[in-house]
Amino acid sequence: MPVHGEIVLGFDPMDEVHAHFEIQLATALACPDDRLLQCIGELTEHLKHHFAAEDVWMRDSDFPPAQCHIDEHAAVLQSAQEVLPLVAQGRLSVGRAFVRELANWFPAHADHLDSALAAWMSKQRFGGKPVVIKRAAAHHH
Ligand SMILES: [Fe+2]
Ligand SMILES: [Fe+2]
Repeated sequence: MPVHGEIVLGFDPMDEVHAHFEIQLATALACPDDRLLQCIGELTEHLKHHFAAEDVWMRDSDFPPAQCHIDEHAAVLQSAQEVLPLVAQGRLSVGRAFVRELANWFPAHADHLDSALAAWMSKQRFGGKPVVIKRAAAHHH
């Protein structure tokens, strides 16, 4: 049973990543000052994995408009990596502003870029191409 968050785009592996993102984001938004560095650190780790998964889906499936989506991921990850050392120096308001910005950024990103990729991936999987069922058992006789 796939895990779903508030934004559901119809490609289960992505919807699961997004559900985890929403949880991490909610945690970071509610994070107490003394844990903010850790919360943003965990959020940054999530972003690496989230963006890498989508970038691989785009590259492996020759998704036509991949570049601007990949670039946007890189820009967001770079901001996260710039914010982390500032939070470590005690500049918590910079961290708080980043988390709020990320929360504002995500719905539009999901709507404009992730949704197109989700539709493309679903089509790759279920449309046009024949479904190939790999039968591991076939190798044993
Ligand atoms: Fe995404
Ligand atoms: Fe994305």
